[in-house]
Amino acid sequence: MEKLTLTRPDDWHLHLRDGAALKAVLPHTVHQFARAVIMPNLKPPVRSLGDAMAYRDRILAAIPPGKQFEPLMTLYLTDNTSPEDIIAAQASQVVKAVKYYPAGATTNSEFGVTDIRRCDRVFETMQQVDMPLLLHGEVTDVHVDVFDREKVFIDQQLIPLQQRFPNLRIVLEHITTSEAVQFVLATSNMAATITPQHLLFSRNSLFKGGIRPHYYCLPILKREQHRQAILQAATSGNPKFFLGTDSAPHGRNSKETSCGCAGCYSALHAMELYAEAFESVNALDKLEAFASFHGPDFYQLPRNTETITLTKTTWRIPDALPFTETELVPLRAGEEMTWKMV
Ligand code: DOR
Ligand code: ZN
Repeated sequence: MEKLTLTRPDDWHLHLRDGAALKAVLPHTVHQFARAVIMPNLKPPVRSLGDAMAYRDRILAAIPPGKQFEPLMTLYLTDNTSPEDIIAAQASQVVKAVKYYPAGATTNSEFGVTDIRRCDRVFETMQQVDMPLLLHGEVTDVHVDVFDREKVFIDQQLIPLQQRFPNLRIVLEHITTSEAVQFVLATSNMAATITPQHLLFSRNSLFKGGIRPHYYCLPILKREQHRQAILQAATSGNPKFFLGTDSAPHGRNSKETSCGCAGCYSALHAMELYAEAFESVNALDKLEAFASFHGPDFYQLPRNTETITLTKTTWRIPDALPFTETELVPLRAGEEMTWKMV
């Protein structure tokens, strides 16, 4: 296949940051996607409807002139989020979901939830008003091996949560394990996003010839057998699985250091990366539904009507991109790609 025309896709999990960083990265997403679910882990986080509306205005102001893009806002769940916050958010139509970060799990998660059961009144309200819950599905217990944190979260927290709130619509974000795939398949009202890095790379990529900080994200890359399980899920055509890049920009100086931040930058070339992953298992015919149909169907939003085109063209990913006072190293910097978005 030399050319691929698809309904314009959306990114159902994206970090845009704020200020100069937002202005540097937003054009990449706008080029590829019509809409994106915007993660709320700013400093301080997006905790109220007012925060979300103000952040949305800053995103809209940063869209390059003449371009169309719709940010779908989320609220950051804390121990202090109230049922009233949820009702106001749902009524606004601006906020499309609520994001759960366990306190200490990842970048800017220090305001996150200290014990998931503390939020039961909020989950009850979310279930009532049908507001989706987006989960960073990892436990933070330092005694749990970092490669097991997703599986342990499912067993210890997600299964009981789903039993307490069976009608709550949940997205298990950026899944990385065969256990997550099996759980999502077996559970109603449960969907999952999948990133390009987890489809393309196993944990070996973190240590290929030396330590590779630009492959470090959370949840961390897993064994090859898990990569194959999520690739199978993404390319299966099952509507429970859809595109969410988790593109998470950090300047070079915050990645290449003695204690580097978690996050891969993929907004520049997300669709090209997904196309490569799908092509590797002869499943390009499944890419459009994964990228453009399953997400809006889950979020009960209309599918996009315009299209994008990818062609078989070899090009080299830049070594770095301009980013505030530093630079941004994209995923697989300096390597060749075989698909190019027109
Ligand atoms: O790798 C990650 N980066 N995982 C997250 O959960 C957060 C994200 C970020 O905001 O940098
Ligand atoms: Zn994320």
